Amino acid sequence: MRIVILGAPGSGKGTQARFLEERYKIPCISTGDILREAVRRGTELGREAKSYMAKGKLVPDQVVVDIIAERLKEGDCKRGFILDGFPRTVVQADALQKILDRMDLRIDMVLNLEVSEGVLIRRLSGRRVCKRCGANYHVEFQTPRIFGICDYCNEGLIQRDDDKEEVVRQRLKEYLKQTLPLRVYYKNHNLLKEIDGEKGIFEVSKEIVSTLERGNRVDNLKVGS
Ligand code: AP5
Repeated sequence: MRIVILGAPGSGKGTQARFLEERYKIPCISTGDILREAVRRGTELGREAKSYMAKGKLVPDQVVVDIIAERLKEGDCKRGFILDGFPRTVVQADALQKILDRMDLRIDMVLNLEVSEGVLIRRLSGRRVCKRCGANYHVEFQTPRIFGICDYCNEGLIQRDDDKEEVVRQRLKEYLKQTLPLRVYYKNHNLLKEIDGEKGIFEVSKEIVSTLERGNRVDNLKVGS
């Protein structure tokens, strides 16, 4: 099963991608997480990406395409993968198609999480993340067992730099201009499935699972194995 999850910043891509990773035991590949880790480690990639991310701009296409091309060659992607936050432009979608053609693979389904702007802003402003493992929380909708502490690694939770209001507005602008056209792109490729991302986390997961299972996209995967 090879899935792309599309959606605006805060639509729940990362939350649902991690759920699917756990359920189907295939890796979730998040370009945002890879870039944040590079920034944290101060690598050359991180230094380049930082200036774009801090302003809410997209990192240049070729940078992320190269990351994905390398990542998809790794052994854990053999049974499938979930792409979270990639592709984000038509140029990236075309590049992904070429990478997969070379590997004789194809995308099975593209899930688009539809969420209105007011809800996106509420989710992003309340999001907290673990500074060590990057796990996602929310001050209202997804609280940790102990206030301010990650359930998985006992680290403190922080607000992402790009979740500050003016950066969020810029990220939403970039999304509308650069990423929204991918809905039409994947609709034309007959791969797009719309998901109501505004429901609770659990309900959204349920809708995704039934969409995947209706589309027979999981027949080669043993759930929870
Ligand atoms: P990235 O990390 O991908 O950010 P994003 O797309 O803006 O997405 P987010 O992580 O903000 O939101 P999400 O949809 O994953 O929502 P989440 O599940 O966290 O990218 C960051 C930056 O990296 C970009 O701005 C860009 O600079 C660069 N970049 C990355 N990929 C790139 C690419 N391909 N090309 C170029 N540049 C790239 O949920 C949000 C909050 O809501 C959480 O607190 C969660 O608990 C809560 N929540 C989730 N679902 C629900 C629900 N159903 N109900 C209630 N609360 C919910």
